[in-house]
Amino acid sequence: MKLVTIIGARPQIIKAAALSRAIRNHYKDQIQEIIVHTGQHYDDNMSQVFFDELQIPRPDYNLHVGSASHGVQTARMTEGIEDILIKEQPDFIVLYGDTNSTLAGAVAAAKIHVPIVHIEAGLRSFNKAMPEEINRIVCDHCSTLLFSPTLAGVENLRREGFAIDNEPPFSIDKPKVYHCGDIMYDNSLHFADIAETKTDIINRLNLSGKPFVLATIHRDSNTDHPERLSAIFKAIIRLSEDCRIVLPLHPRTSKLLKTNLDEELQMQVFNNTNISLIPPVSFLEMIALERHARLVLTDSGGVQKESYFFKKPCIILRPETEWVEIVQTGNAILADADESRIRQAWQHFKDNPPTVFPEVFGDGHAAEFMLEKIILCKSL
Ligand code: UD1
Ligand code: UDP
Repeated sequence: MKLVTIIGARPQIIKAAALSRAIRNHYKDQIQEIIVHTGQHYDDNMSQVFFDELQIPRPDYNLHVGSASHGVQTARMTEGIEDILIKEQPDFIVLYGDTNSTLAGAVAAAKIHVPIVHIEAGLRSFNKAMPEEINRIVCDHCSTLLFSPTLAGVENLRREGFAIDNEPPFSIDKPKVYHCGDIMYDNSLHFADIAETKTDIINRLNLSGKPFVLATIHRDSNTDHPERLSAIFKAIIRLSEDCRIVLPLHPRTSKLLKTNLDEELQMQVFNNTNISLIPPVSFLEMIALERHARLVLTDSGGVQKESYFFKKPCIILRPETEWVEIVQTGNAILADADESRIRQAWQHFKDNPPTVFPEVFGDGHAAEFMLEKIILCKSL
Protein backbone atom coordinates (compact mmCIF):
# COMPACT_ATOMS: atom_id res chain seq x y z
CA MET A 1 0.00 0.00 0.00
CA LYS A 2 1.20 3.46 -0.80
CA LEU A 3 0.54 6.48 1.44
CA VAL A 4 1.36 10.06 0.54
CA THR A 5 1.85 12.06 3.76
CA ILE A 6 1.64 15.86 3.61
CA ILE A 7 3.58 17.92 6.13
CA GLY A 8 4.46 21.60 6.14
CA ALA A 9 4.19 23.33 9.51
CA ARG A 10 6.27 22.48 12.59
CA PRO A 11 3.63 20.47 14.49
CA GLN A 12 2.88 18.34 11.42
CA ILE A 13 6.53 17.42 11.02
CA ILE A 14 6.60 16.36 14.68
CA LYS A 15 3.36 14.34 14.36
CA ALA A 16 4.66 12.62 11.22
CA ALA A 17 7.54 11.24 13.30
CA ALA A 18 5.10 9.01 15.18
CA LEU A 19 3.44 7.56 12.08
CA SER A 20 6.75 7.01 10.25
CA ARG A 21 8.16 5.32 13.34
CA ALA A 22 5.16 2.96 13.55
CA ILE A 23 5.47 2.12 9.84
CA ARG A 24 9.19 1.43 10.24
CA ASN A 25 8.69 -0.71 13.36
CA HIS A 26 5.56 -2.69 12.45
CA TYR A 27 4.41 -2.29 8.86
CA LYS A 28 7.47 -1.78 6.67
CA ASP A 29 6.61 -4.77 4.47
CA GLN A 30 3.06 -3.57 3.93
CA ILE A 31 3.24 0.21 3.66
CA GLN A 32 5.31 2.53 1.50
CA GLU A 33 5.19 6.13 2.74
CA ILE A 34 5.97 9.02 0.40
CA ILE A 35 6.55 12.23 2.38
CA VAL A 36 5.72 15.58 0.81
CA HIS A 37 6.94 18.73 2.60
CA THR A 38 5.05 21.74 1.32
CA GLY A 39 7.73 24.11 2.60
CA GLN A 40 5.22 26.13 4.64
CA HIS A 41 7.84 26.24 7.42
CA TYR A 42 11.42 26.43 6.18
CA ASP A 43 13.80 27.93 8.76
CA ASP A 44 16.15 25.23 10.03
CA ASN A 45 14.77 25.59 13.56
CA MET A 46 11.17 25.28 12.29
CA SER A 47 11.77 22.28 10.03
CA GLN A 48 15.17 20.59 9.49
CA VAL A 49 15.88 20.26 13.22
CA PHE A 50 12.96 17.85 13.59
CA PHE A 51 14.14 15.61 10.75
CA ASP A 52 17.60 15.48 12.31
CA GLU A 53 16.34 14.79 15.81
CA LEU A 54 13.25 12.60 15.45
CA GLN A 55 14.41 10.12 12.77
CA ILE A 56 11.82 11.24 10.25
CA PRO A 57 12.68 10.04 6.74
CA ARG A 58 13.85 12.80 4.38
CA PRO A 59 10.90 14.14 2.38
CA ASP A 60 10.59 12.61 -1.08
CA TYR A 61 9.34 15.97 -2.37
CA ASN A 62 9.66 19.55 -1.11
CA LEU A 63 7.39 22.11 -2.76
CA HIS A 64 9.28 25.07 -1.20
CA VAL A 65 6.14 27.25 -1.14
CA GLY A 66 7.40 29.46 1.71
CA SER A 67 5.37 32.24 3.28
CA ALA A 68 2.58 34.11 1.48
CA SER A 69 -1.03 35.16 1.96
CA HIS A 70 -3.49 32.35 2.70
CA GLY A 71 -4.81 32.21 -0.88
CA VAL A 72 -1.43 32.32 -2.60
CA GLN A 73 0.22 29.86 -0.22
CA THR A 74 -2.67 27.37 -0.39
CA ALA A 75 -2.94 27.64 -4.18
CA ARG A 76 0.77 26.94 -4.68
CA MET A 77 0.59 23.92 -2.41
CA THR A 78 -2.58 22.60 -4.05
CA GLU A 79 -0.99 22.72 -7.50
CA GLY A 80 2.16 20.96 -6.32
CA ILE A 81 0.30 18.27 -4.35
CA GLU A 82 -2.02 17.54 -7.28
CA ASP A 83 0.96 16.88 -9.58
CA ILE A 84 2.51 14.51 -7.04
CA LEU A 85 -0.75 12.61 -6.45
CA ILE A 86 -1.21 12.12 -10.20
CA LYS A 87 2.34 10.84 -10.52
CA GLU A 88 2.39 8.64 -7.40
CA GLN A 89 -1.18 7.25 -7.55
CA PRO A 90 -1.30 6.51 -3.79
CA ASP A 91 -3.98 4.45 -2.04
CA PHE A 92 -4.46 7.24 0.51
CA ILE A 93 -3.25 10.74 1.33
CA VAL A 94 -2.53 11.36 5.03
CA LEU A 95 -3.25 14.86 6.35
CA TYR A 96 -2.52 16.21 9.83
CA GLY A 97 -4.36 18.87 11.76
CA ASP A 98 -5.59 22.16 10.39
CA THR A 99 -2.93 24.20 8.62
CA ASN A 100 -2.93 25.57 5.10
CA SER A 101 -0.90 22.49 4.10
CA THR A 102 -3.81 20.34 5.37
CA LEU A 103 -6.35 22.36 3.38
CA ALA A 104 -4.29 22.19 0.19
CA GLY A 105 -3.89 18.42 0.53
CA ALA A 106 -7.62 17.98 1.11
CA VAL A 107 -8.70 20.03 -1.89
CA ALA A 108 -6.10 18.51 -4.24
CA ALA A 109 -6.88 14.92 -3.22
CA ALA A 110 -10.67 15.11 -3.04
CA LYS A 111 -10.99 16.54 -6.57
CA ILE A 112 -9.02 13.69 -8.12
CA HIS A 113 -10.58 11.02 -5.92
CA VAL A 114 -7.64 10.10 -3.73
CA PRO A 115 -9.11 8.95 -0.37
CA ILE A 116 -8.14 11.17 2.54
CA VAL A 117 -7.05 10.05 6.00
CA HIS A 118 -7.43 12.96 8.43
CA ILE A 119 -5.46 12.71 11.65
CA GLU A 120 -6.86 15.05 14.35
CA ALA A 121 -10.36 15.03 12.89
CA GLY A 122 -13.37 16.53 14.64
CA LEU A 123 -11.65 19.26 16.65
CA ARG A 124 -13.59 22.49 16.69
CA SER A 125 -13.12 25.89 18.30
CA PHE A 126 -16.50 27.10 16.98
CA ASN A 127 -14.68 30.27 15.96
CA LYS A 128 -14.56 30.62 12.19
CA ALA A 129 -12.35 33.71 12.46
CA MET A 130 -9.53 31.20 12.96
CA PRO A 131 -8.04 30.07 9.64
CA GLU A 132 -7.51 26.67 11.25
CA GLU A 133 -11.26 26.22 11.85
CA ILE A 134 -11.96 26.62 8.12
CA ASN A 135 -9.12 24.27 7.23
CA ARG A 136 -10.20 21.50 9.59
CA ILE A 137 -13.89 21.65 8.64
CA VAL A 138 -13.09 21.43 4.91
CA CYS A 139 -10.64 18.60 5.48
CA ASP A 140 -13.05 16.58 7.64
CA HIS A 141 -15.81 16.89 5.07
CA CYS A 142 -13.54 15.62 2.26
CA SER A 143 -12.16 12.66 4.25
CA THR A 144 -12.76 8.92 4.05
CA LEU A 145 -11.11 7.95 7.36
CA LEU A 146 -11.43 10.45 10.21
CA PHE A 147 -9.27 9.81 13.25
CA SER A 148 -10.40 11.85 16.22
CA PRO A 149 -8.05 12.10 19.19
CA THR A 150 -10.87 12.78 21.65
CA LEU A 151 -14.48 11.81 22.31
CA ALA A 152 -15.41 15.50 22.09
CA GLY A 153 -14.10 15.41 18.50
CA VAL A 154 -16.26 12.39 17.66
CA GLU A 155 -19.29 14.16 19.10
CA ASN A 156 -18.56 17.30 17.05
CA LEU A 157 -18.52 15.19 13.89
CA ARG A 158 -21.76 13.45 14.82
CA ARG A 159 -23.41 16.84 15.28
CA GLU A 160 -22.18 17.91 11.84
CA GLY A 161 -24.00 14.94 10.31
CA PHE A 162 -21.32 12.24 10.20
CA ALA A 163 -22.79 8.77 10.81
CA ILE A 164 -20.64 7.18 13.48
CA ASP A 165 -21.68 3.60 12.63
CA ASN A 166 -21.04 3.48 8.87
CA GLU A 167 -20.25 0.00 7.50
CA PRO A 168 -17.53 -0.67 4.92
CA PRO A 169 -16.64 -0.08 2.16
CA PHE A 170 -15.80 3.48 3.26
CA SER A 171 -15.57 6.42 0.89
CA ILE A 172 -15.74 10.21 0.84
CA ASP A 173 -19.53 9.81 0.77
CA LYS A 174 -19.59 7.07 3.42
CA PRO A 175 -16.70 7.98 5.71
CA LYS A 176 -15.59 6.19 8.87
CA VAL A 177 -15.00 8.03 12.14
CA TYR A 178 -12.63 6.48 14.67
CA HIS A 179 -11.77 7.58 18.20
CA CYS A 180 -8.10 6.77 18.44
CA GLY A 181 -6.18 8.82 21.01
CA ASP A 182 -3.66 11.53 20.30
CA ILE A 183 -0.67 10.95 18.05
CA MET A 184 1.24 13.70 19.90
CA TYR A 185 0.88 11.68 23.08
CA ASP A 186 2.69 8.82 21.28
CA ASN A 187 5.60 11.18 20.68
CA SER A 188 5.67 12.69 24.14
CA LEU A 189 5.84 9.25 25.74
CA HIS A 190 8.43 8.00 23.28
CA PHE A 191 10.75 10.99 23.53
CA ALA A 192 10.35 12.11 27.17
CA ASP A 193 13.23 10.10 28.60
CA ILE A 194 15.37 10.51 25.48
CA ALA A 195 14.99 14.28 25.93
CA GLU A 196 16.43 14.12 29.44
CA THR A 197 19.67 12.53 28.24
CA LYS A 198 20.06 14.12 24.81
CA THR A 199 19.52 17.80 25.59
CA ASP A 200 21.24 20.15 27.97
CA ILE A 201 18.80 23.04 27.65
CA ILE A 202 17.89 23.04 31.33
CA ASN A 203 21.53 23.51 32.34
CA ARG A 204 22.31 25.78 29.41
CA LEU A 205 19.58 28.21 30.46
CA ASN A 206 20.56 27.81 34.12
CA LEU A 207 17.13 26.46 35.03
CA SER A 208 18.13 23.42 37.03
CA GLY A 209 16.14 23.27 40.27
CA LYS A 210 14.65 26.71 39.65
CA PRO A 211 10.97 27.38 39.02
CA PHE A 212 10.14 28.85 35.63
CA VAL A 213 7.17 29.44 33.34
CA LEU A 214 7.40 28.17 29.77
CA ALA A 215 5.57 30.45 27.33
CA THR A 216 4.82 30.31 23.59
CA ILE A 217 2.82 32.75 21.47
CA HIS A 218 2.22 32.51 17.75
CA ARG A 219 -1.53 32.58 17.02
CA ASP A 220 -2.29 35.32 14.45
CA SER A 221 -5.21 36.51 16.61
CA ASN A 222 -2.59 37.48 19.23
CA THR A 223 0.51 38.43 17.26
CA ASP A 224 -1.22 40.57 14.64
CA HIS A 225 -3.20 42.75 17.06
CA PRO A 226 -1.08 45.31 18.96
CA GLU A 227 -3.54 45.64 21.84
CA ARG A 228 -3.74 41.86 22.39
CA LEU A 229 0.00 41.29 22.05
CA SER A 230 0.66 44.19 24.45
CA ALA A 231 -1.79 42.84 27.03
CA ILE A 232 -0.07 39.44 26.94
CA PHE A 233 3.38 40.98 27.37
CA LYS A 234 2.20 43.26 30.18
CA ALA A 235 0.99 40.14 31.98
CA ILE A 236 4.28 38.37 31.29
CA ILE A 237 6.19 41.30 32.78
CA ARG A 238 4.07 41.07 35.94
CA LEU A 239 4.56 37.30 36.16
CA SER A 240 8.30 37.77 35.74
CA GLU A 241 8.35 39.62 39.10
CA ASP A 242 7.40 36.25 40.63
CA CYS A 243 9.05 33.69 38.41
CA ARG A 244 11.47 33.38 35.50
CA ILE A 245 9.82 33.19 32.05
CA VAL A 246 11.32 31.20 29.16
CA LEU A 247 9.80 32.09 25.81
CA PRO A 248 10.97 30.36 22.62
CA LEU A 249 9.83 32.78 19.94
CA HIS A 250 8.02 31.65 16.79
CA PRO A 251 9.39 33.63 13.80
CA ARG A 252 6.00 35.22 13.27
CA THR A 253 6.10 36.60 16.82
CA SER A 254 9.71 37.75 16.74
CA LYS A 255 8.94 39.79 13.62
CA LEU A 256 5.75 41.31 15.04
CA LEU A 257 7.13 42.15 18.50
CA LYS A 258 9.08 44.94 16.89
CA THR A 259 6.08 46.51 15.19
CA ASN A 260 3.19 45.65 17.51
CA LEU A 261 4.65 46.52 20.94
CA ASP A 262 5.38 50.16 21.62
CA GLU A 263 8.99 51.13 22.30
CA GLU A 264 8.60 51.38 26.06
CA LEU A 265 7.04 47.93 26.33
CA GLN A 266 9.73 46.50 24.06
CA MET A 267 12.41 47.92 26.36
CA GLN A 268 10.67 46.44 29.42
CA VAL A 269 10.59 43.03 27.76
CA PHE A 270 13.99 42.99 26.08
CA ASN A 271 15.85 44.39 29.11
CA ASN A 272 14.15 42.14 31.66
CA THR A 273 16.65 39.64 33.02
CA ASN A 274 13.82 37.38 34.20
CA ILE A 275 12.39 37.01 30.69
CA SER A 276 14.45 34.79 28.38
CA LEU A 277 13.43 35.30 24.76
CA ILE A 278 15.10 32.51 22.81
CA PRO A 279 14.88 31.20 19.23
CA PRO A 280 12.54 28.25 18.55
CA VAL A 281 13.90 25.15 20.24
CA SER A 282 14.02 21.55 19.04
CA PHE A 283 11.29 19.10 20.05
CA LEU A 284 13.52 17.32 22.56
CA GLU A 285 14.44 20.66 24.09
CA MET A 286 10.80 21.67 24.16
CA ILE A 287 9.65 18.58 26.00
CA ALA A 288 12.54 18.90 28.45
CA LEU A 289 11.34 22.47 29.14
CA GLU A 290 7.73 21.30 29.49
CA ARG A 291 8.76 18.56 31.90
CA HIS A 292 10.66 20.94 34.17
CA ALA A 293 8.41 23.99 33.96
CA ARG A 294 6.21 25.03 36.84
CA LEU A 295 3.45 26.23 34.52
CA VAL A 296 2.85 26.68 30.79
CA LEU A 297 1.47 29.86 29.22
CA THR A 298 0.52 29.37 25.57
CA ASP A 299 -1.78 29.90 22.61
CA SER A 300 -0.46 26.77 20.87
CA GLY A 301 -2.68 23.73 20.45
CA GLY A 302 0.17 21.27 20.74
CA VAL A 303 1.84 22.94 23.70
CA GLN A 304 -1.47 23.05 25.63
CA LYS A 305 -1.73 19.30 25.31
CA GLU A 306 1.90 18.60 26.08
CA SER A 307 1.58 20.60 29.27
CA TYR A 308 -1.25 18.22 30.22
CA PHE A 309 0.80 15.14 29.23
CA PHE A 310 3.55 16.34 31.58
CA LYS A 311 1.02 17.20 34.30
CA LYS A 312 1.62 20.95 34.30
CA PRO A 313 -1.06 23.63 34.75
CA CYS A 314 -1.65 25.69 31.64
CA ILE A 315 -2.89 29.21 31.02
CA ILE A 316 -4.36 29.37 27.52
CA LEU A 317 -3.98 32.71 25.76
CA ARG A 318 -7.15 32.24 23.75
CA PRO A 319 -10.89 32.76 24.32
CA GLU A 320 -11.62 29.11 23.54
CA THR A 321 -9.88 25.82 22.84
CA GLU A 322 -10.48 22.70 20.79
CA TRP A 323 -8.92 20.69 23.62
CA VAL A 324 -11.86 21.16 25.97
CA GLU A 325 -10.86 18.24 28.22
CA ILE A 326 -7.88 20.05 29.68
CA VAL A 327 -10.07 22.96 30.77
CA GLN A 328 -12.94 20.74 31.96
CA THR A 329 -10.57 18.77 34.20
CA GLY A 330 -9.41 22.03 35.83
CA ASN A 331 -5.85 21.74 34.57
CA ALA A 332 -6.00 24.66 32.16
CA ILE A 333 -7.65 28.08 32.30
CA LEU A 334 -8.79 30.13 29.31
CA ALA A 335 -7.44 33.61 30.02
CA ASP A 336 -7.54 35.02 26.46
CA ALA A 337 -5.24 37.99 25.82
CA ASP A 338 -6.44 39.63 29.03
CA GLU A 339 -3.80 40.89 31.45
CA SER A 340 -5.92 40.60 34.59
CA ARG A 341 -7.34 37.14 33.69
CA ILE A 342 -3.81 35.88 33.04
CA ARG A 343 -2.66 37.17 36.44
CA GLN A 344 -5.72 35.69 38.17
CA ALA A 345 -5.08 32.32 36.52
CA TRP A 346 -1.45 32.43 37.68
CA GLN A 347 -2.56 33.15 41.24
CA HIS A 348 -5.17 30.37 41.05
CA PHE A 349 -2.61 27.77 40.01
CA LYS A 350 -0.12 29.02 42.61
CA ASP A 351 -2.73 28.51 45.33
CA ASN A 352 -4.19 25.29 43.89
CA PRO A 353 -1.62 23.35 41.88
CA PRO A 354 -3.53 20.64 39.98
CA THR A 355 -2.72 17.03 40.77
CA VAL A 356 -5.21 14.89 38.83
CA PHE A 357 -4.77 14.53 35.07
CA PRO A 358 -7.20 11.84 33.81
CA GLU A 359 -6.08 9.82 30.75
CA VAL A 360 -8.16 11.40 28.01
CA PHE A 361 -5.64 11.24 25.16
CA GLY A 362 -5.35 7.48 24.66
CA ASP A 363 -2.58 5.03 25.46
CA GLY A 364 0.32 6.32 23.39
CA HIS A 365 -0.33 3.87 20.53
CA ALA A 366 -2.55 5.99 18.30
CA ALA A 367 -0.24 5.61 15.28
CA GLU A 368 -0.40 1.79 15.27
CA PHE A 369 -4.19 1.91 15.68
CA MET A 370 -4.54 4.23 12.71
CA LEU A 371 -2.26 2.18 10.47
CA GLU A 372 -4.26 -0.98 11.23
CA LYS A 373 -7.48 0.78 10.28
CA ILE A 374 -5.96 2.15 7.07
CA ILE A 375 -4.81 -1.35 6.07
CA LEU A 376 -8.25 -2.72 6.96
CA CYS A 377 -10.01 -0.05 4.89
CA LYS A 378 -7.96 -0.95 1.81
CA SER A 379 -8.78 -4.66 2.20
CA LEU A 380 -12.57 -4.19 2.54
C1 UD1 B 1 0.94 27.95 10.94
C2 UD1 B 1 -0.48 27.40 10.97
C3 UD1 B 1 -0.95 27.30 12.40
C4 UD1 B 1 0.02 26.48 13.24
C5 UD1 B 1 1.43 27.04 13.10
C6 UD1 B 1 2.40 26.13 13.79
C7 UD1 B 1 -1.88 28.04 9.06
C8 UD1 B 1 -2.98 28.91 8.58
N1 UD1 B 1 -1.40 28.30 10.27
O1 UD1 B 1 0.91 29.26 11.49
O2 UD1 B 1 -2.21 26.64 12.44
O3 UD1 B 1 -0.38 26.55 14.58
O4 UD1 B 1 1.78 27.11 11.70
O5 UD1 B 1 3.59 26.76 14.08
O6 UD1 B 1 -1.49 27.14 8.35
N2 UD1 B 1 7.97 32.24 9.20
C9 UD1 B 1 9.34 32.28 9.14
N3 UD1 B 1 10.01 31.10 8.97
C10 UD1 B 1 9.38 29.90 8.87
C11 UD1 B 1 7.99 29.88 8.92
C12 UD1 B 1 7.29 31.06 9.10
O7 UD1 B 1 9.96 33.34 9.23
O8 UD1 B 1 10.07 28.87 8.72
C13 UD1 B 1 7.26 33.52 9.42
C14 UD1 B 1 6.90 34.24 8.14
O9 UD1 B 1 7.01 35.60 8.37
C15 UD1 B 1 5.45 33.87 7.95
C16 UD1 B 1 4.95 33.77 9.38
O10 UD1 B 1 6.05 33.24 10.11
O11 UD1 B 1 4.73 34.82 7.21
C17 UD1 B 1 3.74 32.87 9.56
O12 UD1 B 1 3.99 31.57 9.00
P1 UD1 B 1 2.75 30.69 8.47
O13 UD1 B 1 3.22 29.33 8.14
O14 UD1 B 1 2.01 31.41 7.41
O15 UD1 B 1 1.77 30.65 9.69
P2 UD1 B 1 2.07 30.28 11.21
O16 UD1 B 1 1.78 31.46 12.03
O17 UD1 B 1 3.39 29.64 11.32
N1 UDP C 1 7.63 23.13 19.62
C1 UDP C 1 9.00 22.97 19.44
N2 UDP C 1 9.82 24.06 19.61
C2 UDP C 1 9.34 25.28 19.94
C3 UDP C 1 7.94 25.44 20.12
C4 UDP C 1 7.11 24.35 19.93
O1 UDP C 1 9.46 21.85 19.15
O2 UDP C 1 10.15 26.21 20.07
C5 UDP C 1 6.74 21.97 19.43
C6 UDP C 1 5.83 21.68 20.58
O3 UDP C 1 6.49 20.87 21.54
C7 UDP C 1 4.67 20.99 19.91
C8 UDP C 1 4.59 21.67 18.57
O4 UDP C 1 5.87 22.27 18.36
O5 UDP C 1 4.94 19.61 19.71
C9 UDP C 1 3.53 22.71 18.57
O6 UDP C 1 3.66 23.52 17.46
P1 UDP C 1 3.12 25.00 17.39
O7 UDP C 1 2.96 25.55 18.73
O8 UDP C 1 3.98 25.71 16.44
O9 UDP C 1 1.71 24.81 16.65
P2 UDP C 1 0.25 24.33 17.07
O10 UDP C 1 0.35 23.09 17.85
O11 UDP C 1 -0.40 25.46 17.78
O12 UDP C 1 -0.42 24.14 15.75
